[in-house]
Amino acid sequence: MKIALLAGDGIGPEIMEEAVRVLDALRLPQVTFWRGDVGGAAYRRHGHPLPEETLKMCRAADAVLFGAVGDPECDNLERHLRPEQAILGLRSELGLFANLRPAAAMPGLEDLSALRPEIARAIDLLIVRELNGDVYFGEKGTRTTPGGQREGYDVMAYSESEVRRIAHTAFRAAQGRKGRLCSVDKANVLETSQLWRDVVVEVSAEYPDVALSHMYVDNAAMQLVRNPGQFDVMVTGNLFGDILSDQASMCVGSIGLLASASLGEQQTEFGTKGLFEPIHGSAPDIAGQGAANPMAMILSAAMMLRHSFGREEDAARVEAAVAQALADGVKGADLGGTAGTKDIGIAVAERL
Ligand code: NAD
Ligand code: IPM
Ligand code: MN
Repeated sequence: MKIALLAGDGIGPEIMEEAVRVLDALRLPQVTFWRGDVGGAAYRRHGHPLPEETLKMCRAADAVLFGAVGDPECDNLERHLRPEQAILGLRSELGLFANLRPAAAMPGLEDLSALRPEIARAIDLLIVRELNGDVYFGEKGTRTTPGGQREGYDVMAYSESEVRRIAHTAFRAAQGRKGRLCSVDKANVLETSQLWRDVVVEVSAEYPDVALSHMYVDNAAMQLVRNPGQFDVMVTGNLFGDILSDQASMCVGSIGLLASASLGEQQTEFGTKGLFEPIHGSAPDIAGQGAANPMAMILSAAMMLRHSFGREEDAARVEAAVAQALADGVKGADLGGTAGTKDIGIAVAERL
């Protein structure tokens, strides 16, 4: 099992250390860890946020475990040199178009949620976020209008093949869950979304066992807070999925809890090649303090074991150990507790 570890910036290295602690504690056979530079850290050492050798390492690996990138000191660099370009570059270079962001209440831990416990209890949803298209990857720039003003632009576009493949991923995910799929768009205003909706409806013909519904993204944001229990699988574009998943994290309890898998079509010896990362960023406001919650990172490692290595049992063990640690009151500051990053990593490893 060749695993590329890209810790990145801010809290990245702190949470990565705890994920590796947990993986080590599983005593998996035949694991090779490779470490690579990425983000602002890579820019400083190599002059680029995604150096060629890091990309090469990720191409050769079966899976990439990714911490976070982002550094306020790099915010004024030219865009192609900014840390965030590293994660965008990896997602597109590796063809990782399907981003799975599960959000589920943990039984007995409904009081972690920012919502009332009786509302939070029912949360068990999966956001399937398209990851290679949308306004993220369209033509962008700054130009001068005829009136002499500066104007920024980012083109939002989806081709039908891009929509079709993520729709298949989402329908298949729904088949493996409760059989309900809600496609989230803004088809009342955007042409991109109308095409999205048309293609999702076309693909639905192949999945008569899945109940498909559509929802506008503004309503979806509201419904996630009003009654998140209504959702099983949600499928949406790159930008809407980014926003809705951060929101879903607070419905569960904290952004420090939500993991993700980014998958493409490439198979490994044991499963699907992927990149696994928490949904949160480098949290510069708490970096270097040992205060970050590493659970999202640890749960991302569990998703890696499941999707890239076919080790469902180990994945479930890690998830159960995280839930047990929380049940035992091991909580970081993000959840109103006092446990530090290392305390949490050790507590999870002890409960495996
Ligand atoms: P962020 O997710 O880094 O932080 C938002 C808030 O949540 C902050 O208050 C932070 O302290 C808190 N938080 C995040 N993760 C936490 C954790 N594990 N434990 C406890 N608290 C946690 O988002 P931001 O502040 O908007 O962005 C900071 C930087 O991260 C930016 O440069 C941004 O571009 C980048 N970013 C990177 C990724 C990624 O690498 N995939 C994702 C999101 C943001
Ligand atoms: C995420 C992040 C990234 C995104 C940024 C850092 C490019 O917010 O992984 O959710 O927008 O996809
Ligand atoms: Mn995000």
